[in-house]
Amino acid sequence: MSGRVSGAILLTGAAHGIGRATALALASRGYALGLIDRDAEALAGVVGEIGEREGALSFRVSDVTDLDAMREAVLGVESAVGPTGTLVACAGIGSLTLLPDLDPAALRAMLDVNVVGVANAIAAVLPGMIARGGGHVVGISSVAGVRGMPWMASYSASKAALTTYLEGLRPALKRRGVSVTTVYPGFVRTAMTEGTPFRRPVPMLEPEQAAAQLVRAIERRPRDLAFPMSAALGMGLLRRLPNRVYDRMMDRAGPRALTVDF
Ligand SMILES: NC(=O)c1ccc[n+]([C@@H]2O[C@H](COP(=O)([O-])OP(=O)(O)OC[C@H]3O[C@@H](n4cnc5c(N)ncnc54)[C@H](OP(=O)(O)O)[C@@H]3O)[C@@H](O)[C@H]2O)c1
Repeated sequence: MSGRVSGAILLTGAAHGIGRATALALASRGYALGLIDRDAEALAGVVGEIGEREGALSFRVSDVTDLDAMREAVLGVESAVGPTGTLVACAGIGSLTLLPDLDPAALRAMLDVNVVGVANAIAAVLPGMIARGGGHVVGISSVAGVRGMPWMASYSASKAALTTYLEGLRPALKRRGVSVTTVYPGFVRTAMTEGTPFRRPVPMLEPEQAAAQLVRAIERRPRDLAFPMSAALGMGLLRRLPNRVYDRMMDRAGPRALTVDF
């Protein structure tokens, strides 16, 4: 445990992938945990894996897109494990954006979960954090949100929106003692990435490696954390590339990335 983490850690998207691995990593470090996910069966499985932890583990099934349900879930979890000191908003969805049958409903769903869902989770814990004079919000953006990625335009847009949303909130939260960390993972091997029809094998972190980075973010409270190093460097480069150069790269490399047309 780190001295910088006070109170319980509330984690959304805890049933699968990075969230599940982070829940297990945090439990092994002795933190009090509140776990939220919409997948009841898988969430119960994670709780079973962690095992009995009197007063230090609670879970609720909730959809992050439903603010009332999130408020109720947070109340329920906090009554068992105590006030939330850290929120890790990990619940997210992602799918490819393929042409010619553009699917605006998929874009709406990604904005709803990846942006509004994070806002709902923050809104649910924020009054308590402000009343107690502090807290920490960790939002999971993505390297894919730095520039528009040709085969995942909707996902890129949702993560770009999340990044700027968290950045915009940061000063007002800081004045109230709440710090914000934005996390930018590169590819991680989870259900979200597993089915992607990449033409060539793409190096991916295991969820446990991503979880170790999230634990670092929770304990050290950096403003931003990008990982792995190659993704962090790539992100810096992508940000600096002139638009014309970026467009040319994507015109050429983009269509060769997948085995399906987009
Ligand atoms: N994997 C990567 O390469 C990668 C890279 C960068 C960023 N990220 C981000 O990291 C986070 C975790 O992704 P992951 O790869 O671990 O994905 P994952 O394995 O699909 O896990 C996401 C979890 O969030 C849950 N969830 C989705 N929508 C929800 C909702 N409306 N309410 C409550 N829970 C919901 C999912 O439940 P269901 O199973 O029911 O959908 C699932 O348990 C996401 O924000 C993702 O965008 C992932």
